[in-house]
Amino acid sequence: MYLIHNGVAVIQLDHPPVNSLGHALRKTIHTAVVAAQADSGVCALVLIGSDKAFSAGADVSEFGKPEQAAFPLITDVFARIDACTKPVVAAISGVALGGGLELALSCHARVALASAKLGLPEITLGLIPGAGGTQRLPRLIGVAAAYAMMQSGAAQTAQQLEASGLLNRVVERDVLAAALALALELGHGGEALPRARDRQPDATAARAFIEAQRARLTPRQRQLPANMALLDALEASTDTDFDAGLKTERSLFLGLLGSTSAKALRYQFFAEREAVKLPATLQAVPKSFETLGIVGAGTMGSGIAICALDAGLRVILLEQDAAALQRGCLRIADHYAARVTAGKMKASVAALSEARLTPTTDWTLFSRVDLVIEAVFEDLAVKQDVFRKIDAHTRAGAVLASNTSYLDVDAIANATKRPQDVLGLHFFSPAHVMKLLEVVRGTQTAPEVLATGMALGRALKKTPVPTGNAFGFIGNRIYNAYRKQCEFMLEDGAWPEEVDAALEDFGFAMGPFKVADLSGLDIAWRMRQAQASSRDPRERYVDILDALCAQGRLGRKTGAGYYTYTDGKAGKTTDALVRQVIEAASSRRGITRRPLLPEQIQRRALLAMVNEAALLLAEGVASRASDVDVVLVQGYGFARWQGGPLFWAQQQDRATLQTDLQQLARQSGWGFVLADLEPLLPTSGATL
Ligand code: COA
Ligand code: NAD
Repeated sequence: MYLIHNGVAVIQLDHPPVNSLGHALRKTIHTAVVAAQADSGVCALVLIGSDKAFSAGADVSEFGKPEQAAFPLITDVFARIDACTKPVVAAISGVALGGGLELALSCHARVALASAKLGLPEITLGLIPGAGGTQRLPRLIGVAAAYAMMQSGAAQTAQQLEASGLLNRVVERDVLAAALALALELGHGGEALPRARDRQPDATAARAFIEAQRARLTPRQRQLPANMALLDALEASTDTDFDAGLKTERSLFLGLLGSTSAKALRYQFFAEREAVKLPATLQAVPKSFETLGIVGAGTMGSGIAICALDAGLRVILLEQDAAALQRGCLRIADHYAARVTAGKMKASVAALSEARLTPTTDWTLFSRVDLVIEAVFEDLAVKQDVFRKIDAHTRAGAVLASNTSYLDVDAIANATKRPQDVLGLHFFSPAHVMKLLEVVRGTQTAPEVLATGMALGRALKKTPVPTGNAFGFIGNRIYNAYRKQCEFMLEDGAWPEEVDAALEDFGFAMGPFKVADLSGLDIAWRMRQAQASSRDPRERYVDILDALCAQGRLGRKTGAGYYTYTDGKAGKTTDALVRQVIEAASSRRGITRRPLLPEQIQRRALLAMVNEAALLLAEGVASRASDVDVVLVQGYGFARWQGGPLFWAQQQDRATLQTDLQQLARQSGWGFVLADLEPLLPTSGATL
């Protein structure tokens, strides 16, 4: 239960991997504190976790499940610690997150290793801290700092928090010894430390701050109920009655627990952790890699190089000529210089990263690489030519990857004599920022090569998601279906700004026509021209984009696309010329334009995504429904708190979903393939 060191009871939290506060661990702590309180041989208590985790907080998988059978609840444990008449010291190493940090806050003092990471990430799960965090933290560090920590959900190191008032001592090593020393001081009648609950906040200033923050919440922030609840809970912390504040916090927390946004965010939490693992049938031992070869130092190649350097890998970056190489290197150097100037990275760390980079135009250096990522122009012939060179210059057994967005990975692999070593690694732009990485399995990709792609993704701190080799893989294929449906809606009667507004209201970061203008309409135009000869004339093909491009409206970069831009800012509505182009398209198709309500727009766009996702799953391109949701959230601006298109589908009434999908098929015309949604929908009564 606990060990006694010099009269201090040391309670070890031992619930691998991360000491999440599930029922068993709560019971252990509660029992140990009760026993230590009663033990006359004990003058103080220390709570300590593992090197990896003091505690990662409440067990997320218990959220949404019935509470009654679970005494002691987390709040019972904290109340017990709070009421302990002997000093209780938290010894923090690894992470103290969410309920884990609240556990430390309920202790009477806190000692942490400088490297420990502390945070209250509940907002990222659509919640607020529900076990005293919103009441104790402002009493310790002030309402503004507490709000910043809870509103961002981001963790900070103990070193960063040293002067905040949260920690009593920060040490470089041996946190247990430091905690024991403090516990002994306090236990032997040293100066008593006021518990967090006994401190009084400056209520007037705090209330003014909270009011100002309420007024500053953006409409997008207001879509997440936890953002408002957090301010309500903080307001309760300004009350002198601590227990009343705790009650308010708990009831706000419980109110959020069953909300759709909290369910969706919990679902994403587990979906992301599932996505990065290969399904059992595809698992294999990854190859090791230390040196990466990157071909092409353009937008993507230089971004990929940055994340590989940051992950401690050596990078040999190859370009076709010295000028292009210099441009790429400059981009990388500028990135590091900006990080250092912004205080986000130490100059010494940046220098170490840059020292691992070898820029070259000499293919013979590729004999040293373990893994190659090709990021040259999106042109099959160019890529095949590059892969022949890669094949000629890399050692047997090296893993060879292409960052193609749409091209056939098999056609690229077959340019080499070792297609089993080839796969796709589809990074997103900017590659050093975006978390998503589609790991594409070609027909002949060997299992250990696929596993190496996944391992590289994890090493680069990405979310690697396995996908089959089909046009657009998972993400671009679904996005194309969505965008196509949005174009149908233009022909049917909606204006671009109505479609964009409806989808932004649903939670997309940006509507599809604004996205198209931002990326440049000419990319899609070129692809459409390339596909023109193979397009079936019966297909419902919307040529509005082609007409805009023909008039030189290529998007934001030319000052006009679907929208007209003044000083880089889009007009609120599309102009007369765009409306004429759209009306002409409607009349060519014989459509009498009818306005669409925002809910109709949202539903059609979502159904199109759901249908395409079901096809991808049936074809085996996506392995798991939840992978699709991870891809859409991480790579395409689908609101995380809406869970993803398949999570959305699972919340809908089944019968209506099926009827609406059939109507969508009719609206979409020839070429629309209706998917079977049954395998995606939960059996009745299943909960998320
Ligand atoms: N509840 C339940 N399970 C948790 C958990 C929690 N709070 N935190 C982590 N886990 C599980 C993960 O699901 C994973 O399980 P798996 O191996 O079966 O997939 C395992 O612990 C390891 O987590 P993972 O995220 O893969 O490891 P990591 O070393 O990359 O990160 C943490 C560790 C603690 C930093 C990270 O898991 C984390 O941020 N957890 C969430 C903390 C949180 O939000 N707490 C607030 C709850 S109120
Ligand atoms: P880019 O034009 O910025 O860079 C391509 C680079 O490749 C250029 O610097 C060029 O000099 C170099 N190159 C061309 N042929 C070469 C050769 N034979 N040997 C060595 N270098 C050569 O292009 P990008 O945007 O970085 O795209 C690269 C790849 O990444 C494409 O396949 C693209 O589809 C894919 N991709 C791009 C994005 C994006 O948003 N830009 C996103 C995901 C994937």
